[in-house]
Amino acid sequence: MGAILFQVSRDGGADAEGTRVSWCEVTFLPAGKVARVRAGSRLLDAAEQGQVKLRHVCGGQANCTTCRVQVQSGTEHLTPLSDKESHRLSDLRLETRWRLACQARVHGAVTVRIPTLIEQLEEARENESR
Ligand code: FES
Repeated sequence: MGAILFQVSRDGGADAEGTRVSWCEVTFLPAGKVARVRAGSRLLDAAEQGQVKLRHVCGGQANCTTCRVQVQSGTEHLTPLSDKESHRLSDLRLETRWRLACQARVHGAVTVRIPTLIEQLEEARENESR
């Protein structure tokens, strides 16, 4: 079953005004697309920057969970789970490695997996039968 992975790494740089900023390099796998976003950007911003298709039906309000991603590595480089995000993910009975891309912000190297539409449909079917 296909999946999209992306990795974030951090380096230094400066913005147009010469202010020192930290950038996160985002690499999407298996497509290998790379995007650079400022440290503190949301995973959803990184996906958009890298032109990776990631559903976000509620527009980033932590209501729909369609933007969920599974963290493969670098959990320590993501902002902590908010109460709302934690509640939404527990509603889906997802393990702790899952995050909402509209809520989690990156501050270092991170690799996440975006579930395929088929995985999402199978998960929805399982949740309905519970
Ligand atoms: S976009 Fe809806 S929960 Fe993230």
